[in-house]
Amino acid sequence: MAEVKNKQVVLKDYVTGFLKESDLDLVENTITLKLPEGSNEILLKNLYLSCDPFMRNLMSDIGILEKFLPYAPGSPLFGYGVAKVLESGHPDYKKGDLVWGFTKWEEYSLVPSSRILFKIEHTDVPLSYYTGILGMPGMTAYAGFFEVGLPKKGEKVFVSAASGAVGQLVGQFAKLTGCYVVGSAGSKDKVLFIKLFANNPILYQLPSPTCCKAYDWQDLKAISF
Ligand SMILES: NC(=O)c1ccc[n+]([C@@H]2O[C@H](COP(=O)([O-])OP(=O)(O)OC[C@H]3O[C@@H](n4cnc5c(N)ncnc54)[C@H](OP(=O)(O)O)[C@@H]3O)[C@@H](O)[C@H]2O)c1
Repeated sequence: MAEVKNKQVVLKDYVTGFLKESDLDLVENTITLKLPEGSNEILLKNLYLSCDPFMRNLMSDIGILEKFLPYAPGSPLFGYGVAKVLESGHPDYKKGDLVWGFTKWEEYSLVPSSRILFKIEHTDVPLSYYTGILGMPGMTAYAGFFEVGLPKKGEKVFVSAASGAVGQLVGQFAKLTGCYVVGSAGSKDKVLFIKLFANNPILYQLPSPTCCKAYDWQDLKAISF
């Protein structure tokens, strides 16, 4: 079976402070597109990768997420993504299936089947939606807002990072539920965007935060993501 080139995004070394482009490297490796004999793993062609805030935590030399060890310098990053199954050693998946789950930042990946979280059945929407509204940010927003927050029409909802992947969905769910939505964001462009759903969009940056309307902060519900 052919050995093919496999571009990877690797972490050069552990990061302190904000991530810089120079902390990452694009390298070209090779991979044999064939499952090892007897393997029950899944060989994937990665299609879309999701860039999420928790990934920064894994770039420090101490793992601060219980579920995951930090990234290893010199190895590709991993995170949520959409992929096509090229070969499967697990009965739940077959060649050609589209899946969503944990994969690596490279063109082709060999992953344990337990890393795949679900098979994508609905392909009548762009597959990239599974990195957003139909993926982890969407599930976080939906479960956090509806199942933890138990919102009621007329309630006041404050959303910080309201233009972000999770925040923009919480804001829209709140609006659809008939809540009064206050959203904050860190730039004028983001505030223009959140005006689509926020009754009261706030540009919070100093020196002069702007707020369209005076706001009564009492009886505010808090959900932390
Ligand atoms: N518990 C869970 O399962 C779960 C799942 C998903 C996400 N989350 C959490 O939910 C939050 C939002 O996630 P997301 O995917 O929507 O993120 P995102 O799209 O990357 O948005 C992050 C936004 O946070 C704001 N921000 C405020 N302070 C910041 C700082 N010091 N550094 C960087 N950004 C800062 C920035 O917006 P402004 O400039 O507009 O403020 C930034 O654009 C994150 O804290 C994430 O870890 C939790």
